[in-house]
Amino acid sequence: MLEAVNISHAFDYPLFENIDLKIKAKEKIAIIGKSGSGKSTLLHILSSFLKPNKGKVFYKNEDLYSSKNLINIRRYEFGIIFQFHYLFSTFSALENIQAAALLANKEIDWELLRRLDIDKVINQNIQTLSGGQQQRVSIARVLVKKPKIIFADEPTGNLDKANANEVMQILSEYCKENNASLITVTHDMELASFFDRVYELKDKRLKIWK
Ligand SMILES: Nc1ncnc2c1ncn2[C@@H]1O[C@H](COP(=O)(O)OP(=O)(O)O)[C@@H](O)[C@H]1O
Ligand SMILES: [Mg+2]
Repeated sequence: MLEAVNISHAFDYPLFENIDLKIKAKEKIAIIGKSGSGKSTLLHILSSFLKPNKGKVFYKNEDLYSSKNLINIRRYEFGIIFQFHYLFSTFSALENIQAAALLANKEIDWELLRRLDIDKVINQNIQTLSGGQQQRVSIARVLVKKPKIIFADEPTGNLDKANANEVMQILSEYCKENNASLITVTHDMELASFFDRVYELKDKRLKIWK
């Protein structure tokens, strides 16, 4: 499904070198690592937002960064949950979700909004929601698109333990029901049981952790 081959990237100094990673349909993986180790950068590279200095990313065997189809892949097949979720802060939760659904030609899934426990605050302005509610809106906004791969950067970062487990459960179920894959960046080791594999980004390399 998605394959990274020999990825290296540097900003002011080398972040990581010669990283290989392969993920199949329905697989769920996590990348853990200390703050500043480059997890978000690697996720941006895998999810089509940052071309690596070296190496290639293949999606369905096609070089992602030279694909003529990149816009459609982003719009219809990739779903990205950002660490800082970039919701439209002057719009309601529903308007944020509707905008995403509209772009991907999809209907709003009200059952999903109920499961995420945001149905009762759906008409509230984003600014009036708690951090946890905003995070769940940002997850709803991605799932309504029905993506084939979800890239999630600390998706449970603003949630307490019970809510974090609940959100991971929803993401896992989504993948199972839609044959989708999940690549999550997290520093929360307690979530490890949700994943088929866990990698650690350390000393510029990606190593199997579980
Ligand atoms: N666009 C950028 N320009 C320069 N340096 C950056 C940029 N993005 C990230 N960095 C640096 O790269 C390092 C890794 O960042 P990041 O990928 O966000 O790590 P993590 O998500 O593991 O905390 C940090 O030192 C950060 O300051
Ligand atoms: Mg990060």
